[in-house]
Amino acid sequence: MARPKIALIGAGQIGGTLAHLAAIKELGDIVLFDIAEGTPQGKALDIAESGPSEGFDAALKGANDYADIAGADVCIVTAGVPRKPGMSRDDLLGINLKVMKAVGEGIAANAPDAFVICITNPLDAMVWALREFSGLPHAKVCGMAGVLDSARFRHFLSLEFNVSMKDVTAFVLGGHGDTMVPLTRYSTVAGIPLPDLVKMGWTTQDKLDAIVQRTRDGGAEIVGLLKTGSAFYAPATSAIEMAEAYLKDQKRLLPCAAWCDGEFGLKGFYVGVPTIIGAGGIERIVDIKMTKDEQAMFDNSVNAVKGLVEACKGIDESLA
Ligand code: APR
Repeated sequence: MARPKIALIGAGQIGGTLAHLAAIKELGDIVLFDIAEGTPQGKALDIAESGPSEGFDAALKGANDYADIAGADVCIVTAGVPRKPGMSRDDLLGINLKVMKAVGEGIAANAPDAFVICITNPLDAMVWALREFSGLPHAKVCGMAGVLDSARFRHFLSLEFNVSMKDVTAFVLGGHGDTMVPLTRYSTVAGIPLPDLVKMGWTTQDKLDAIVQRTRDGGAEIVGLLKTGSAFYAPATSAIEMAEAYLKDQKRLLPCAAWCDGEFGLKGFYVGVPTIIGAGGIERIVDIKMTKDEQAMFDNSVNAVKGLVEACKGIDESLA
């Protein structure tokens, strides 16, 4: 059987890391696409040359023509610009919206059956626009944010409790921005919910609140340190986890930006919710019941996303 084909639209920091991870995990053959000439070709060759040492079987190709993504099974989109210190994800809207139009049309024409994972920020608005521009089924277009935000939360919690990250589960929902909603009640150490761990004296509510805030600011913390771009290792790893769930029909329960059509009381929006990813794409949205406070935080986050979607409609009339 032929190997799956993975198209990476955008061959920058995240795109290159995605390609390396996909090759090492032997998820399929990889096409790196970018508008910059030479960049995808150079990265594809460099990664292919790591193959003999790593021992993977995967073909890598760099491309500047959308025809090269033809028939891709998975497309992961990072095309666009990342933020610089002092910028919010929302500041990228105008530039990246134009990029989503070109990418959406390129995918529609060449890889209409692909499972599409968007990473470009501001995420929830960009994945919505990418779906609109591509016209692909909603279940086949989603955004990567919740896996990353939850991974950051899990990492910080594992440091606080001095336990393995493997035993920390966490849920971060809502939009991928300052209003994201880390759900402490559904986050656990080996099944023990965080509020119980506070009662058990493992941490204090104040410390937990600080970890929640650090999670919300997780992307900005890295932008502040790097100064010339934004995070790329953890975002790439998170998207690969989603791509693998699709390609191997794993039925993973992963938080990601998915099209809500009535779930969580939302109609017609992409926002971070718990989903099941398998061969059908986003096969199910897990409509959990939230407390009043959680719902208020979630609604606040959704309103921020709605504002960005309205801004997109204002910029590009075809979206209105
Ligand atoms: N089509 C294809 N590629 C494009 C286009 C386009 N229209 N416009 C820009 N690109 C390419 C750039 O040439 C660059 O190689 O997208 C790549 C982006 O790479 P980086 O600048 O290194 O950015 P990266 O860190 O990978 O982040 C990409 O993901 O997390 C988000 O906020 C981040 O929106 C940003 C995106």
